[in-house]
Amino acid sequence: MSSRTEVPFWTSVGQSLRNSSRTEKIFCCVCWTIILGAVAAIVYLLAFRQQESPSNVWNITRAMWLGADIAGDPVKYRPLKLVIINHSVSPECRSLEGCAQSMRNLQNFFLNDKGWDLPYNFVIGNDGRVYEGRGWDREGAHTYGYNSCSLGVGFIGDYRPGFGNTVPTSLQMERFKELMQYGVLMGYLDPDYAVVGASDLQTSASPGDNLLKQMKAWSHYNQDRYRNMTCAQIYDLTK
Ligand SMILES: *[C@@H]1O[C@H](CO)[C@@H](O)[C@H](O)[C@H]1NC(C)=O
Ligand SMILES: *[C@@H]1O[C@H](CO)[C@@H](O)[C@H](O)[C@H]1NC(C)=O
Ligand SMILES: *[C@@H]1O[C@H](CO)[C@@H](O)[C@H](O)[C@H]1NC(C)=O
Repeated sequence: MSSRTEVPFWTSVGQSLRNSSRTEKIFCCVCWTIILGAVAAIVYLLAFRQQESPSNVWNITRAMWLGADIAGDPVKYRPLKLVIINHSVSPECRSLEGCAQSMRNLQNFFLNDKGWDLPYNFVIGNDGRVYEGRGWDREGAHTYGYNSCSLGVGFIGDYRPGFGNTVPTSLQMERFKELMQYGVLMGYLDPDYAVVGASDLQTSASPGDNLLKQMKAWSHYNQDRYRNMTCAQIYDLTK
């Protein structure tokens, strides 16, 4: 075997270091410093800076999507026990910039064409981010009769088969749950909250079967608990 004459790598590095001149050693040191510095800078940029950039934040405030100030009465019931899902029946959006634009378009549409402000408390973009609408502190304007005692969450897109054919992504479903967990943690939502589609309460095609089908897998989905009940009945204020 010829390998007897081969010197292991680190031994050879040591030998050449011993054999090299002072200038060569300094040069070698400088080179390694530059290489390690560059690696450290790349790791920092990849791991650290990206976390701080808005493109990695999952919950986008109204200020971040450049929304206009939102009107709405203060929430009357707390913690909320009911979460109602609608779809927006507007074009899908798949980036922070695109969804921020969608949010501004939706707000303008409701203000100019409907005469009231963005109806949802929160909106889930097709990019999986959660966009703040009226937020936790203001009543929504999404489901007649239930606005004062529910949280309205809109999913961007048209989830009706044969119409928009939007299909919810797993990231959207995860981020919706993250929003719910945050709401419970902060005391905005009852830990035993129930999620329904608008069509579970009223005759409607919203939020569309593609979305409804996936909602039914959620542990908090409960079609029947508050069906046909008024807000006062939900909060047991009628006795
Ligand atoms: C966004 O979520 C983080 C936790 O992931 C939370 O600390 C922060 O307060 C949230 N921001 C808003 C505006 O809800
Ligand atoms: C949500 O769905 C209900 C149907 O029950 C409908 O009346 C309402 O207009 C929808 N809201 C929005 C904001 O799309
Ligand atoms: C709700 O009311 C409708 C008619 O008002 C009725 O047909 C339906 O059975 C009721 N559902 C429940 C769960 O009570």
